[in-house]
Amino acid sequence: MESKESILEKEIKKKVELSTAIRKLKKEKNAVILAHYYQDKGIQEVADCLGDSLYLAKQAAKVDNDIIVFAGVHFMAETAKIINPSKKVLLPDLKAGCSLADSCPPKDFTAFKIKHPNALVVSYINCSAEIKKLSDIVCTSSNAKKIIQSIPKDKEIIFAPDKNLGAYLNKETDRNMILWEGSCIVHEAFSFEKIISLIKSYPNAKFIAHPESESPVLDIAHYIGSTSALLNFVQKDKAKEYIVATEVGILHEMQKRCPEKTFIPAPVEDDTCACSECAYMKLNTLEKLYRCLLKESPEVKMDAKLIEAARIPIERMFELS
Ligand code: 13P
Ligand code: SF4
Repeated sequence: MESKESILEKEIKKKVELSTAIRKLKKEKNAVILAHYYQDKGIQEVADCLGDSLYLAKQAAKVDNDIIVFAGVHFMAETAKIINPSKKVLLPDLKAGCSLADSCPPKDFTAFKIKHPNALVVSYINCSAEIKKLSDIVCTSSNAKKIIQSIPKDKEIIFAPDKNLGAYLNKETDRNMILWEGSCIVHEAFSFEKIISLIKSYPNAKFIAHPESESPVLDIAHYIGSTSALLNFVQKDKAKEYIVATEVGILHEMQKRCPEKTFIPAPVEDDTCACSECAYMKLNTLEKLYRCLLKESPEVKMDAKLIEAARIPIERMFELS
């Protein structure tokens, strides 16, 4: 029987070969790879641009390559297509969806909007193009506070689809926005009790969390921020240990930027997994990335009218942030 070491060696060799082949192919095809921090380490390493939702949306607007390979989830690749429609946008696995985007069906949201005819709609970028079309302004977790604060205080606002981010923003901006009841399964999976006992085991560690997490978790955090804000925080902060409540993929970049520090993923309720992984993000693999570049498929295709309508609230976001 083959030893564990030799199986591991073969796996590493295959990954190195795939990464080399992807780098070569992307040059030949004049393609650019945009990857979110929640992607697998291997994908993060071959990316031309690695970042959070806001950074990647801004990059997608700028690139002049023929092909954009979006190593992230469907709403992100769709956003890239909306912002830069003349480009061919590829997504390694078209099934890479998002629980948060799925929690806001356009038909139900239209009915919800009708109940609040005077409200301005601010939608988190983690939603479908149809929801963006129904929105006045889009935001990401990096600029949400700034965008909400730019709206007059007496204006009624619907915030969708994330109720946790919405509740956090209501507290931060002292508002009473009407919240759509959507959520992210990854950020809702954290166990409050397990986090408390982890904090007790690491008394010198700081607990940091993404605002998509539930309010009891946010209430005990030393720092709350978007993916890139968390990354900036650990680089500037003086502590040596951090318990991190967001998708575990970000720990790769945190560890790279702060090799002397210790990062501990916040535990989840489920006993089968120690940390919180986004199963949608992880549908993309190096193999699928290579194949999608080679075949230039699967491609994100969209109706031109939908692109036009969904672009308006995204452009408003760019103007405001
Ligand atoms: P940010 O990239 O804005 O931090 O959002 C996190 C997320 O859940 C992406 O799917
Ligand atoms: Fe969607 Fe949550 Fe996964 Fe982000 S982490 S893609 S919000 S399910």
